[in-house]
Amino acid sequence: MATHSEAAFNKNESDRRQSFSGIWNGELDKVFADVAKYYDRANVIASLGLLGVWLKRFVSTIDVKPGDKVLDVCAGTNVMGIALLKKQPGMDVQAIDRSQDMQQVGAERASRLGFTIKSDIGDVHQLPYPDEHFDVVTLQYASRHLGIMQVSKEIHRVLKPGGHFYHCDMLRPRNKLVENAYYIYLKFCLNLTSWLFNSDQASLDCRDYFIEALKMFYSAEELSDLMRTAGFASVEHSSIFAGMVAFHKAGKK
Ligand SMILES: C[S@@+](CC[C@H](N)C(=O)[O-])C[C@H]1O[C@@H](n2cnc3c(N)ncnc32)[C@H](O)[C@@H]1O
Repeated sequence: MATHSEAAFNKNESDRRQSFSGIWNGELDKVFADVAKYYDRANVIASLGLLGVWLKRFVSTIDVKPGDKVLDVCAGTNVMGIALLKKQPGMDVQAIDRSQDMQQVGAERASRLGFTIKSDIGDVHQLPYPDEHFDVVTLQYASRHLGIMQVSKEIHRVLKPGGHFYHCDMLRPRNKLVENAYYIYLKFCLNLTSWLFNSDQASLDCRDYFIEALKMFYSAEELSDLMRTAGFASVEHSSIFAGMVAFHKAGKK
């Protein structure tokens, strides 16, 4: 993969926005309102149970200390916040997501387990937090739906010097054969889970979008470059399943 220049990233980000901003600012909220009640179960089925294994692996890469201020961006049902609090209960965890329904499910899950996760409902393209506020920021399984350069710069802004941004997502595999097989598998999963959970029309209409958004997204290497371009001083990643899923750690100087 050729390293992107900042101009190439800007062009790609602008193309992604042009293709998807209608969905990002419209249908996607309806989709997450619909899927909130079955989101966690659907993920277990679609990943054949692997999501829990990937979560453990991702969390094992995240350094957290008692007293750390942690921000989970696009927190959804608080999967990440809960996993981090299980690892280190003495932290202050803030979640932000645009979906009230996803956060409602997340708040109930956290409270059942005796954890407190603060919640803000809002768009993460402009984070409502001061500069240099958090020790750790996490973002999992949402980047395809975002202007990820803008959000990465926002995350960099709210991190303290020496803080880290941890990212996990399904990414575009480098190998074309693997990539095409991946899209066929994802299409099958989306059809299966919408049938099993009786998805509403908004979710049915967005099935193609979920795959198209991945096609226009980045490989693990490209995402590392994007994070460097967004200002991060040190960026490392590891991938599994031929680059279908990757874990990134980006440090702020
Ligand atoms: C696939 S879910 C991932 C949730 C969670 N991070 C996880 O690992 O399960 C994507 C989440 O991103 C949120 N989201 C998408 N675009 C957003 C935006 N612009 N601002 C805030 N949240 C957004 C959705 O509401 C949804 O809860």
